[in-house]
Parts: sequence; C-alpha cells; structure tokens
Amino acid sequence: LLQQLTGTLALAVFTAALSSLQYGYSLGVINAPQKVIEKHYGRSLGVWSEKAGGLSGNSTEEDMFPEAGQHPAVVMYWSLSVAIFSIGGMLSSFLVGFVGDLRGRIKGMLMVNILALAGGLLMGLCRMWKPHIMVISGRAVMGLYCGLTSGLVPMYIGEIAPKAYRGALGTLHQLAIVIGILISQVIGLDFVFGNDDHWPLLLGLSGAPAVLQTLLLPLCPESPRYLYIIQGKEQEARKSKSYTQFKKNIKRIRSSVYRQQLSVALMMHLSQQLSGINAIFYYSTAIFARAGVAQPVFATIGVGVINTLFTLLSVALVDRAGRRTLTLVGLGGMCCCAVAMTVGLKLQNEYAWMSYVSMSAVFLFVSFFEIGPGPIPWFIVAELFSQGPRPAAIALAGCCNWSSNFLIAMTFPYIQTLLDSYVFILFAVLLLGFTVYIYFRVPETKGKSFEEIARVFNKDRKKSSHPPGDGTELQQLKTSTDA
Ligand code: GLC
Repeated sequence: LLQQLTGTLALAVFTAALSSLQYGYSLGVINAPQKVIEKHYGRSLGVWSEKAGGLSGNSTEEDMFPEAGQHPAVVMYWSLSVAIFSIGGMLSSFLVGFVGDLRGRIKGMLMVNILALAGGLLMGLCRMWKPHIMVISGRAVMGLYCGLTSGLVPMYIGEIAPKAYRGALGTLHQLAIVIGILISQVIGLDFVFGNDDHWPLLLGLSGAPAVLQTLLLPLCPESPRYLYIIQGKEQEARKSKSYTQFKKNIKRIRSSVYRQQLSVALMMHLSQQLSGINAIFYYSTAIFARAGVAQPVFATIGVGVINTLFTLLSVALVDRAGRRTLTLVGLGGMCCCAVAMTVGLKLQNEYAWMSYVSMSAVFLFVSFFEIGPGPIPWFIVAELFSQGPRPAAIALAGCCNWSSNFLIAMTFPYIQTLLDSYVFILFAVLLLGFTVYIYFRVPETKGKSFEEIARVFNKDRKKSSHPPGDGTELQQLKTSTDA
C-alpha cells in the first residue's frame, strides 16, 4: 500500500528525519561557540570577568587565567556540557525497544518530543538562572532524546520502506544528521549566532525541529509491521506485557539463535565510531590548525559540506551497489586516508606541501565515511533482525554506538598527546581489522525481504546444527504475537 502512496511515504520519512536533523545539530552546535560560552560560564561562576588578563583588577584568579576557558572550574563545567549529551544518549538508547513497542513508533516519537522541547527551553532560557547548570541539564535531556530517536527513526523508516528503496530511505537518517551538523556549523559562526548575545538562542534552537515534528507526526501512518503485532492480540494485554516482552527479546537476541546477527550489528556500529570519524568532527578545527591552515573554522565548514555531498551520493548508490560493497570501499578508503594523514603530519615540517596532503586526506576520510560506514550501520540493524527481536537489537546496537562515541570523545585528546603525529595510525589499524571482519562475516542485504535476510542467517545456523524454526519473519511475527 505504502508503495503506491508515495506522498504519504515522503511525508513520513521527512517527518521522522526531523529528529535526525536535531541529533546532527546537537552534535555540531557546541563546536564553534566554545570560547563565548566559556566566558559566560566563567562570569556566572564568579571566576572570571571581562577585565581579564590580570592587568587591571586585583583579582588573582584573573592573573592566572587570562582566558575563561583556562580556569579549572570552567574547564570542568564545559567538558561536562559536551560529554553529558553522550551519557544521556547511552542511557536512553537502551530504552528504544520499550518506547517503540509501548504504543507504536509514531506515538513513541511523539512522546519523546517532550524531551526535545524541555532540553531546548532549558538551554534557550539559560540566562534566567545559572547558565552552566541550565546548559548542562539541557544537554543531558537532549542526549536522552537523541539516544531514543537514533533508534526509533531508523526503525520506523526501515519498517515502512519498500524493499527496493530501503537503503536510500534509511540513508536519509544520516543525511539529516549531516545537514544538522552543517547548519549548526554555519549558524554557529560568530557573525551569525555564535556570539555573546545570541549563543543561548543558538543552543535552544536545537529544540525547534521537534515543534514541527509534533505537528506532522499525527498525519503519518503507523508502521504496518508494528500494527500486525497489535492486531494479533488484544491491546490491553499487550500494554501490560510490553516491558516483560522487551526483556524477553533482549534475552533472546543474546542467545545463540541470534548471535551472528548481533555480532554483525555491533561490529557495524563499532566500525562506525572506532573509525575515528568523530575525532575529526569534534576536533577538526584543532587538527586543521595543526596542519597549518590559516582559517580552520572555514575548513571545518568545508568538511561539513563534503560530508553532506557524499551522503547524498550514498543515497543514490546504496540500493544499487549494496551495503556490503559500500562499507568495504568506505572502510578501506578511510584506512588509506588515515595513513596519508599520518605521513602528511609527520613530514609537514620538512616539506611545506605535505600540509596539503594531510588536508586532502581529512576531506577524503570524511567522504569515504559517508559513502558507507556512516549511514549503513544505522539502518542495517533493522534489516538484520526480524520483527520480534528488532527493537531490542536496535537498542543494543544504539547503546554500543553511543558508548563508543563517548569513549572516543573523552580519550582522543589524551591519545593524541601520547601518540602525537601517529594518532591516526591507531585508527588505520582498527579500520583494517573492521574491513577484514566485514569481508568475511557480513552478507549483502540489498533488495532482500526481511524474510530472505533471516533465511541467510538461518542457513548458517543450520550448518552449525542449530534446531530449525524461528527463522522467517512470518514465523517470528507469529512467535512474538503468541508470546
Ligand atoms: C554518524 C555517526 C556520528 C557522526 C556522524 C558524522 O551519524 O553516528 O557519530 O558524528 O555520522 O557525519
């Protein structure tokens, strides 16, 4: 039915992807205005004032910390503002299955918008009380929101998409993320909103897409696959069982029946994060400065543009070239770029032109990421699992994604100090490992129905003499309906 209703399908995908836009925006928004916000933190903490530099005042604090961002209290509150977003995401991503199954995908997405609005308001109105506390609370709530939607959106899109376009439509989640990052980079410039007057608005705007989404969601169709389950049993009974059912599904996917699918899903997400992509996104300005770029902020925006263009390319390619091929090409390409970056950084003092090598390597690294390793993990988990265990699998994979994201964000500066110019060699080694794993273990899911995909894994299981049954989507639907 949805195949014919292309207008409805477009509306549904657009509406869902508004959450992804918000996720990208929240990821990118804290980058540009760091110095401005640190100043305000310093002021409201009473450790810093405009007359900094220590030349004019009698405050010894200011003698020691000419910039607000150097004060240990400011550093602490700032790091927390950045990191608490991922902590929120880590915690809530685990609840995706529960929220998605409680009242369906649409009501789930509607419900969690409360978090986005609350988060946006806390940050937008942060001047009304202690800004550092308000911003940290806002980012935490926004993290909770994004952890939920980064599972709900790909799940919903995967379930309503006709199989021939499942890859392209699934990639729109990532496309919206990268557009969100780009928008935040541009309006975060100091002559737009990244300045003393407008920074609370800049942060608060992250709640805006939720307003539009709340208006549009009631017009979108519920996932037919979700409805199938609901129709199979009485609604009331389901509601009360929902949480027990979710726990049961988590147990099931950890059992040997789903071990292979689960390891593929987790490895795909690990490869996305441990590729080092966010080392670029969180620290690109610093990396460009190191490579000798005069205006690193604009180079960072350049990365955002390339990022968006190559995600668009992936939308066009993914249902033709396939998930497996694009992931392999992407990871392999990233591995080579990581090596080139290292050579460039290492030799830039001897040969000036080497800084072009490292610059180009950064751009190519991002391009290869968006061709496959960026978008594909988000939607492939929905493809790998059949209806019953799908939400639980997405929850586990999402949690893995957020945790590894957090790990890189926290440890990268230390690893960089430790390894200096060789920091990207570490990622090159990891990337090589993931490429090899995917070559041997990940089957192609392009153009296959969920049922056919389940059969691929089932075949492998039978080879390893697992009892038959519980394999096809239809059987799975029945089992979960009977449960
Ligand atoms: C993916 C990753 C995210 C990263 C983004 C960059 O969505 O999950 O961590 O920042 O791609 O485009």
